[in-house]
Amino acid sequence: MSRTTLEPTATTTRTSPSQTAAQTDFDEVAEAYDESLPAHVVEHYLAKRLTFIREHTRPGPTLDLGCGTGLLAERVSDAGYAVTPLDPFRGMLRVLGRRRPDLPAVQASGTSLPFPDRTFALTYCVAVMHHVADPDAVRQTLIEMVRVTRPGGHVLVWDHNPRNPYWPLLMQRVPQDTGAERLIPEQEILDGLAAGGARPLVVKPLGLVPDFAPRRLLPVATGLERLVEHAPLLNRLCAHNVILAVKDGRAAT
Ligand SMILES: C[S@@+](CC[C@H](N)C(=O)[O-])C[C@H]1O[C@@H](n2cnc3c(N)ncnc32)[C@H](O)[C@@H]1O
Repeated sequence: MSRTTLEPTATTTRTSPSQTAAQTDFDEVAEAYDESLPAHVVEHYLAKRLTFIREHTRPGPTLDLGCGTGLLAERVSDAGYAVTPLDPFRGMLRVLGRRRPDLPAVQASGTSLPFPDRTFALTYCVAVMHHVADPDAVRQTLIEMVRVTRPGGHVLVWDHNPRNPYWPLLMQRVPQDTGAERLIPEQEILDGLAAGGARPLVVKPLGLVPDFAPRRLLPVATGLERLVEHAPLLNRLCAHNVILAVKDGRAAT
């Protein structure tokens, strides 16, 4: 395992589902990543994710897999969780390290996590699986997430919903998407978690606020988001699939 000396080369899975597009080089986009969406929209989703984590889990050893520049990792850490940020790309971790040198990160791929079994009480990833993309690598990453989680501990996967019609449009505009991504169906995530030995506790489509929502209209967009999230059938179009699972076995300590 390498902590933020960040010497080794990224070991992310390079299998691309597309014949034409190469997977994102996150070292190249790292410096622009935090500005790829408007700050008030980023803030909305960070708050939403932190609220979900606090409502469903308790502070303990936590892995943020595919942490990127670590905006969520730092919020979760500040909420009292002992967060280990992990990402295969040193450029992303360098941005995190500049902002939060107190959060030593690990450079590794989710397909082969450099931790013993049962290390974390909570293992989560946000907006990562569609970049892992290759079906075998996605399954392997989910199994790895469960492996490093303690029995009774939680695994949270928060990723783009393939049913949301806006994603393909947004993904053409942001630097971190090249066309090699694959939006992962909810059932595939559930199957991978089950293969690792975790069962679902919460399976919810969440989020709707788009990147183009003006700051002054954010309260309106947030109200609409809440309505859609609670509307049966319509909520299948939400922006994200959110799946919280518990690893089978005794309660985490
Ligand atoms: C869209 S960014 C999301 C970053 C962060 N989780 C967030 O919500 O802002 C996708 C991240 O997944 C990481 N990633 C790509 N392939 C990965 C893999 N095989 N294992 C772990 N992380 C990976 C990328 O390096 C990148 O930081």
